[in-house]
Amino acid sequence: MTSSQPLPDISIDSSSLEALVRQTIGTESFAELSDLLPVLVRDLADVDWRVEQALGSQYSQLTEAARYACSTGGKRVRPLLMATMARALGATTTQPFLSLAAAFQLIHTASLVHDDVIDRADLRRGRPSMLRAYGTALAIVTGDYLFVRAFELAAEYPRSIILRRGDACAQLVEGEVLQESGLFDLAAGREHYLHVVERKTASIVAAGLASGAELSGAPESTVDAAATYGRSLGISFQIRDDLLDVYGDPDLLGKPQYADFRDGNPTLVAIETYARLDAKRQAEFERLFQLRRKRARHLIRMRELADAAGVREAIAMESETWAERAIRALEPIPAGPYRLLLERLARGSAQRRF
Ligand code: IPE
Ligand code: IPE
Ligand code: MG
Ligand code: MG
Repeated sequence: MTSSQPLPDISIDSSSLEALVRQTIGTESFAELSDLLPVLVRDLADVDWRVEQALGSQYSQLTEAARYACSTGGKRVRPLLMATMARALGATTTQPFLSLAAAFQLIHTASLVHDDVIDRADLRRGRPSMLRAYGTALAIVTGDYLFVRAFELAAEYPRSIILRRGDACAQLVEGEVLQESGLFDLAAGREHYLHVVERKTASIVAAGLASGAELSGAPESTVDAAATYGRSLGISFQIRDDLLDVYGDPDLLGKPQYADFRDGNPTLVAIETYARLDAKRQAEFERLFQLRRKRARHLIRMRELADAAGVREAIAMESETWAERAIRALEPIPAGPYRLLLERLARGSAQRRF
């Protein structure tokens, strides 16, 4: 693909946003929370709009690449959580939060663009990754560009919010570096894994929610609770993501299967598989895990060994345990439909298929 392809359409389609929110909340929960749906769809459409507004550059190639990266906006979990938290804390309008939510969504997208360069990933959100569509150099600078636009978008916010967001971005980068340092090393273990996940995924979710709480004037204890909720949900979300890498449907996920096995990324799936196998199969799994160039049959054999170790249920449960921790953190948030939705979003992220 070259940059002469038609400009992707990122016009806001509220019916698809509605379907997305319904899917994220889960149909079971949907009936009782259906009144909230139009409000949240409007919030997300507004965030999308702000993202789009932020992308313009003097150089049409850069604008086009940035639009490509943002055009299939993903699940919008981060802005959805931020809007729901703001409303749970009594905000009657989310206007003051929307640029901040757009900034977090842009940061997230930028991190995926760079992550795909690092992982050499072919697919993202069901389409060729930025890397494949525009090449490595443009993918890197476009990722940088999205980060910079994100910072600009939220320049007007209080200093504490800007600093918290900066710290979360630094943690995100630290998480990627830490992950890189443990590649092909099964002995890195669970503690290393949790350190990586807390930094590369949970930090941004926690910062988004804490900032939302702070902006709505909540006391410090509530801001802390929002951060704890976000951090636990982020860990749950990444554990589930790592499980889906092996046990998910790549068509639904829109990204390649077995990427972590292939890259020697010691996620919980690999760590727990190794820990639960007998010595002979442990040695086989380790040998395969450490291969720098794996073929499809190697990946399939690794999956068979994970099946034999019975890790699937255990890791699904671990993701749910973190979701329950997130829910417990909601205690200081006033009870009501939006808090209920925050609970459903935590459970939903631990059970999601995409
Ligand atoms: C993918 O995040 C990367 C992880 C942190 C697991 P999402 O699953 O939120 O990606 P999109 O935005 O919906 O594509
Ligand atoms: C996502 O991690 C990268 C960040 C959170 C920065 P992954 O590498 O697990 O995400 P996917 O699987 O590529 O979406
Ligand atoms: Mg990746
Ligand atoms: Mg992954």
